[in-house]
Amino acid sequence: MQKTLLTALFLVLIFNPCLTAADRPDWAYGIQTPSTRPDAPKSDPDALLHLPGNNLAFTRAQISSRFAPSDWYPGDHLSMPAIVANGQKPDVWACALCHYPNGKGRPENASVAGYPRQYFIQQMHEFRDGNRLSSDPNKANTKYMMAYAKAMTDEQIEAAANYFSAMKWTPWIKVVETATVPKMYTSGGMFFPWPGDQKEPIGNRIIETPINGEATEVLRDPHSGFIAYAPIGSIEKGKKLVTEETSKTVKCGVCHGADLKGMGPVPGIAGRSPSYVVRQLFDMQQGKRKGLWTALMMPVVSKLTNEDMLNIAAYTASREP
Ligand code: HEC
Ligand code: HEC
Repeated sequence: MQKTLLTALFLVLIFNPCLTAADRPDWAYGIQTPSTRPDAPKSDPDALLHLPGNNLAFTRAQISSRFAPSDWYPGDHLSMPAIVANGQKPDVWACALCHYPNGKGRPENASVAGYPRQYFIQQMHEFRDGNRLSSDPNKANTKYMMAYAKAMTDEQIEAAANYFSAMKWTPWIKVVETATVPKMYTSGGMFFPWPGDQKEPIGNRIIETPINGEATEVLRDPHSGFIAYAPIGSIEKGKKLVTEETSKTVKCGVCHGADLKGMGPVPGIAGRSPSYVVRQLFDMQQGKRKGLWTALMMPVVSKLTNEDMLNIAAYTASREP
């Protein structure tokens, strides 16, 4: 009897439509199947690491410290509020760890620099209230964001919002159209090229990868940006959807500003990570992101196919911020 129940439960789990993700644009979530990856090279954990032209030195552990990650370029930014530089033990990791001290962020998390203060605060409330989930139920760092937002005080949220919204958003991602990309593996939700020069077709994906893998993965260099490989023709197709009257969506400029650099509390979308943008469009369409202001985006996303989203993101990422 128990065995039958267990078998039934197993079958429900396997075939439950909520648990299959056939339609999800996995590339935007940094998921690749099969998920094989090369062996990591051995390294000395106590070695002091440097960046060219910088006289600071940190160990690997210091660079990825949850409560005091490396700040390679203190001269780049205003003095960080404690919550950004150190988080708050035990529940809130330093924002600077994932988003970098300059708010540039990485494709598997988000850029946070240059957003309207009000938008930033609203999003922290949405994470706190469970209105920003991910279509990838295993996306750990989205869950972390929810936990931080729950543990933070209003003052801490405001301090982080003041700090990051005072920055300007500047170019960080270069979009390149191509038919083939270096053979990739994923690690921590990010794509990296395999050693060697093997290639693979890009398919219906945008592959966002560090310009310098070592600088990003090991050193967390907040000056080392990203390259986003996109299918040939995607930018032009995206431009049509974003800027022309179509039956598929609503022109983005109406709310995000003619140059897509934001308007009032509506965030800028020019020059931001295309993987992040597609995750948001898809998560909104699937009802996983459902904040106070998300209703305004529903007519925009409801009829989009995954390919439309890809084209839109290739275009918005290619815009000068
Ligand atoms: C462990 C990594 C990590 C840390 C540390 C972290 N974040 Fe995030 N953050 C994320 C991820 C991942 C997302 C995007 C979630 C998604 O794509 O579903 C995000 C998104 C955000 C957004 C939404 C951006 C947008 O465009 O809407 C804000 C605001 C934000 N984080 C603020 C913070 C603040 C403030 C802190 C420090 C208290 C912080 N984050 C610490 C991983 C992190
Ligand atoms: C009617 C107004 C309106 C239009 C038109 C609109 N947006 Fe938005 N958009 C918003 C608002 C408001 C938000 C904030 C939503 C929230 O808080 O969940 C937003 C959020 C977003 C986000 C998430 C930003 C982030 O940092 O997380 C993306 C991406 C986005 N919009 C893309 C687009 C694109 C692409 C178009 C055009 C195809 C578009 N929007 C058209 C109002 C609009």
